[in-house]
Amino acid sequence: MDKLIKRLRELGFSEDVLIKLGSIRKDELMHMNSRELAEFLGVKRREALRILEVMFKIYTQEMYLPASSLSGRRRISLGVTALDRILGGGLPLGSIVEVFGEPGVGKTQFCFHLTARKFAALGFSKKAAYIDAEGSFSPKRLREVLEGNGVHPDVAMREITLIKPKSTAMLYASLLDLWDEFENYDLVLVDSLLALPRLEYHGLDMLAERQQMLAKILRLMLKISGKGILVLFTNQTIGKITSSEGKDAAGGFIVGHVPGTVLQIRKAAGGVRVLRIVDSPELPEAEALFKIGRKGLIGVTRRS
Ligand code: GTP
Ligand code: MG
Repeated sequence: MDKLIKRLRELGFSEDVLIKLGSIRKDELMHMNSRELAEFLGVKRREALRILEVMFKIYTQEMYLPASSLSGRRRISLGVTALDRILGGGLPLGSIVEVFGEPGVGKTQFCFHLTARKFAALGFSKKAAYIDAEGSFSPKRLREVLEGNGVHPDVAMREITLIKPKSTAMLYASLLDLWDEFENYDLVLVDSLLALPRLEYHGLDMLAERQQMLAKILRLMLKISGKGILVLFTNQTIGKITSSEGKDAAGGFIVGHVPGTVLQIRKAAGGVRVLRIVDSPELPEAEALFKIGRKGLIGVTRRS
């Protein structure tokens, strides 16, 4: 807490606020949302948000569970035998997953499918948040995939929070809103992470600023995933945003010890897609085939 208070003092927060803040335990503060904190400190919600933001930044490293604790987690099965096999039964709740691949390869279809599978696997007790940052959300197609996975589309659509941010700042703000009610969700999708930043930050001179913003977004996604939520984002270009070793355009800014899985989708002959585990804290590198069909992701039979 000392570090946090020192930093907030540097940022000009009043001593009154800092004294009140000093009376909360760190673990209590970590579980507060901006509404609760604003009320407790008697400050505006905006200020409370700022405090939480500074706190996330300082405590990010400590908040995440070691990757080894992933293995016992509940998973969202993809319902495609070959994919579930390499994924150890599906994608684990409480983790962050990056899906990358070239345009048109099926990343958005993967998101629709995962949304449907979430309801199929976990029921309706919690919601899914779908952040459509590239404008490719299709309710009609999603309903088809829901139905294809045995999920009632009318019921499921009510349990999906669709967010269409128009700027990177709005994307960040929508994640903050989700953090504020994390207990209502078990799946958060961001499709795609770089769509908006790429429009807003041009060229090399804005690269540092863009990376900073992305790092902020990523930290918040990590924080949300730390609450037992599966956070999945797509990325058109280079993978390994979550990896610490990246020297790629989009990586390299990062947050070590992320319990993150990096998946790549690529095209193969005959409409077949290959899903590859590029990086995982718990799984070996592996590949499996699938296709995109009316029902969403489907298995590839030997003859097809
Ligand atoms: P970008 O967002 O441009 O990076 O692409 P993406 O990776 O998100 O691709 P997307 O998920 O939009 O996949 C496009 C591909 O999915 C198409 O080329 C089709 O092969 C397939 N697809 C899209 N919609 C349907 C559909 O309604 N039925 C079937 N069977 N396939 C579809
Ligand atoms: Mg897409």
